[in-house]
Amino acid sequence: MSLLAGQTAVITGGAQGLGFAIAEQFIAEGARVILGDLNLDATEEAVTKLGGADVARAVQCNVTSYAHVDALVDSAIEQFGRFDIMVNNAGITRDATLRKMTEDEFDQVIAVHLKGTWNGLKKASAVMREQKSGAIVNMSSISGKVGMIGQTNYSAAKAGIVGMTKAASKELAHLGVRVNAIQPGLIRSAMTEAMPQRIWDSKVAEVPMGRAGEPSEVAKVALFLASDLSSYMTGTVLEVTGGRHL
Ligand SMILES: NC(=O)c1ccc[n+]([C@@H]2O[C@H](COP(=O)([O-])OP(=O)(O)OC[C@H]3O[C@@H](n4cnc5c(N)ncnc54)[C@H](O)[C@@H]3O)[C@@H](O)[C@H]2O)c1
Repeated sequence: MSLLAGQTAVITGGAQGLGFAIAEQFIAEGARVILGDLNLDATEEAVTKLGGADVARAVQCNVTSYAHVDALVDSAIEQFGRFDIMVNNAGITRDATLRKMTEDEFDQVIAVHLKGTWNGLKKASAVMREQKSGAIVNMSSISGKVGMIGQTNYSAAKAGIVGMTKAASKELAHLGVRVNAIQPGLIRSAMTEAMPQRIWDSKVAEVPMGRAGEPSEVAKVALFLASDLSSYMTGTVLEVTGGRHL
């Protein structure tokens, strides 16, 4: 079964973590991927791990800049001749309680998640509306559903991605373009492994399945939303949380 045979995907924040796992999954299903990430060295290493230039290419990209995202998507068409899937995944955290969070920490998180996703949606939909096909997957978080202490910036941005996903899905449905979102819970990655052990343990204790998720478990859901397996789904938000925060 090759669910993405011959297709090209652009994945932001693809150098590591969830984005890298999504790239692995998509390539295993026959796709070629363009990884857009701030960190070019790490992205080039990721391309090597994924099998080299036949299946993956690295592009330095800051998703907060529309010009960068515009060039990122154009490079998919230039390098692989087509553009079928956009995964808006790049992310950062700048956790602090309201008392301590600075205006800059608020602005940075909103810029990367909310504006970065909008930039991806805007550019991807411009190409996809012309070709009358495409799938866009936006990475939200369960933090955007329930709101988490120390994450007024991140929860707001991730909830905003849900509204953006639904609005865009309605604009684009009649053009053959689907837009869906994923809300991961606690997934093992550099972002979450930076947490103190005590906080990690308290989060795991909230998960009915009793463990953190692996990036590959989010990647399988991204594959579902990017492929024809979900051909009649748009505007949806899928939780990948092991049952946490239902
Ligand atoms: N790990 C989790 O538990 C978890 C849970 C819910 C949601 N998420 C979301 O999943 C996505 C991926 O998270 P992860 O855990 O793999 O994180 P990560 O920190 O391992 O990887 C994030 C990647 O995004 C890149 N990046 C950061 N800012 C960027 C920018 N401005 N432009 C381009 N690239 C940029 C980084 O260089 C890095 O390679 C994020 O949107 C995150 O909010 C993660």
